[in-house]
Amino acid sequence: MTHNPRPLVAGNWKMHGVRESLGEVSEICAAVAGGGAGEAEVVICPPATLLMAAAQICAGTPVTLGGQYCHTQPSGPFTGDISAEMLKDAGASYVIVGHSERRFGHNESNASVREEAAAAFRAGLTAIVCVGETRAEREAGHALSVVGSQLAGSVPKALSLESLVIAYEPVWAIGTGLTPTPQDIAEMHRFIRGRINEQLLGQADKIRILYGGSVKPGNAEEVMGVEDVDGALVGGASLTAKDFMAIAGVYR
Ligand code: 13P
Repeated sequence: MTHNPRPLVAGNWKMHGVRESLGEVSEICAAVAGGGAGEAEVVICPPATLLMAAAQICAGTPVTLGGQYCHTQPSGPFTGDISAEMLKDAGASYVIVGHSERRFGHNESNASVREEAAAAFRAGLTAIVCVGETRAEREAGHALSVVGSQLAGSVPKALSLESLVIAYEPVWAIGTGLTPTPQDIAEMHRFIRGRINEQLLGQADKIRILYGGSVKPGNAEEVMGVEDVDGALVGGASLTAKDFMAIAGVYR
């Protein structure tokens, strides 16, 4: 099975960033427009409060935007929530769903992540569905089976190829400076592609599978050079244009 989807480097700002941070968005846009990410697509997922202002900055540049979560419903009495349609209206093309900080911090189940991904699809957004094992699960030898059941439970059956990105983010690698070995990343990404291939009837070669968890300028080349890794989902290092572009620059 050959695959060569266009690489994707996405920055997940999490709950970081106020208007002052929009300068980083401008810098990223200028760098990407100048060829700083080569063939890669670059997506910034700022907090929702910055989406509309960031969309104005990104207009006319190759940089696109994403949300970090969406509710399953298009609108309704859900105080504090945000819908996929609202993210789309604010200028997003992507939305991250099933991040471990939502699965654990907000008790989101596979079933709710699946409905969020379907909501993204309904609104015309591409869902970046996150999966990944905990340290205890990896140490017990259960990493593949845990990710396998997350994929089975969190990826809607009806998703089209264009509307799905998978991000493998081992929980123990997020914000810790730890990363799996290149062999472990390769094994997991190969496994994920195989599982998605069963679901998408042999078309998983077109799906982008990102690695996320402590991707930094210093390890980006090694991590993104691993077989079946089609880009990165970057947390802390996406908050400054300098570090983020050093990572996206791997594809120059
Ligand atoms: P860090 O890059 O800060 O480890 O975060 C990864 C992440 O959770 C991206 O979604």
